[in-house]
Amino acid sequence: MRYWKKLSDEQINQRIFSALEENVDYRERVPLGVPASHLDEKVFYSNAPILKDAPFLSTLLKNPNHIGCHTLGESESFFQGTQAIEKELIALCAEDILNGEAGAFDGYVAAGGTEANTQAIWIYRNYFQRDHGAKPAEIAIICSEDAHYSMPKAANLLGIKLLSVPVDSETRAVKREAVEAVLDKAEGVRYFIVVCNMMTTMYGSVDDANLYADILESRQLNYKIHVDGAYGGFFFPFAEVPHTLDFSNTRISSFTLDAHKMVQAPYGTGIFLARKGWMHYAYTEEAQYVMGLDATLSGSRSGANAVSIWMILMTYGPHGWFEKIHILNYRTNWFCKALRSLDIPHFRHAGSNIVTIKAEAASLELARQFGLVPDDHETPQWFKVVIMDHVRIDHLSELVEALK
Ligand SMILES: Cc1ncc(COP(=O)(O)O)c(C=O)c1O
Repeated sequence: MRYWKKLSDEQINQRIFSALEENVDYRERVPLGVPASHLDEKVFYSNAPILKDAPFLSTLLKNPNHIGCHTLGESESFFQGTQAIEKELIALCAEDILNGEAGAFDGYVAAGGTEANTQAIWIYRNYFQRDHGAKPAEIAIICSEDAHYSMPKAANLLGIKLLSVPVDSETRAVKREAVEAVLDKAEGVRYFIVVCNMMTTMYGSVDDANLYADILESRQLNYKIHVDGAYGGFFFPFAEVPHTLDFSNTRISSFTLDAHKMVQAPYGTGIFLARKGWMHYAYTEEAQYVMGLDATLSGSRSGANAVSIWMILMTYGPHGWFEKIHILNYRTNWFCKALRSLDIPHFRHAGSNIVTIKAEAASLELARQFGLVPDDHETPQWFKVVIMDHVRIDHLSELVEALK
């Protein structure tokens, strides 16, 4: 691990408060041209004694703007202290979690998984248009039918096609024949933005990036691969399941992770990661007033979000994080064993903490009582159980009793 270490509360406080010292303090040095300030003091008290031990709240109050992408070089100097924390967080995720080479990644903290997925698709659409002269109708996103709805949303926003690959209804796996059949019918499409799932929203299923890459290469088609790890990115890499879905696979160019899911960070903590050399396809040249320009979809965004993710990861450290995931995996194993003993049909991808139960095994009333989420609110075929931190074996055993 180059960046990820377990730090004490005191070390974390010291690091965040000294980063804040390097940011502009609107009370001490008054920048006259910045259309921003600390949070309103009539509403948000800035002098409460508790703040001296509360680095995240202090960052929120000081309100740093992390506009732009700080791994690219120049950024707004007013917030350089907390930007450095974001840069370190991006390197930690790309290198220590996703096995990328040192110093080879860009990225930023986005509003969420939807934005990070859209950022990737935007970059590759622009690349195919600029470097290959592709027309929008020749570019398509290709992903499994279980992919998140941010893919059709991005296709709609960016004016490109979406090719949805049917999955096996039992294993939720994308099969070679299904990809081939979709490509056979994709008339006029020559450029492909593959989005692979590292745990789908409903099933926790994981795709094989090499399957897509092998097929597209055998047809001599142009493609780029993005991985949507919005749900699984902070879980699956720690589940000890062999896979090729990280940056050690050179066919993968970018990744989405979401800290506001498994990491329990505040909302607004999606993470976009890309190999160096890709962010510039998203530069908006007209952003001249922003130092370093802007290559993100967000525009202004709170630096407190990056600080919150960094603090959580450093509090656990890599071993603490592994233990946390291990416990959730243990609870999931317990639940699956109980379902098997009752012959309740369900799906669970190895190394995932999502268990999806066939709707025939549970009544709507039971689903409502236990807060199970259906695949479709009108005509549910599956209900999912997500074994998060607050879902203990005691809760799962109540569900098992009810399912009996
Ligand atoms: C796999 C996956 N991708 C993307 C998203 C979108 O994330 P957000 O709601 O943070 O935009 C989700 C959300 O549940 C998801 O599960």
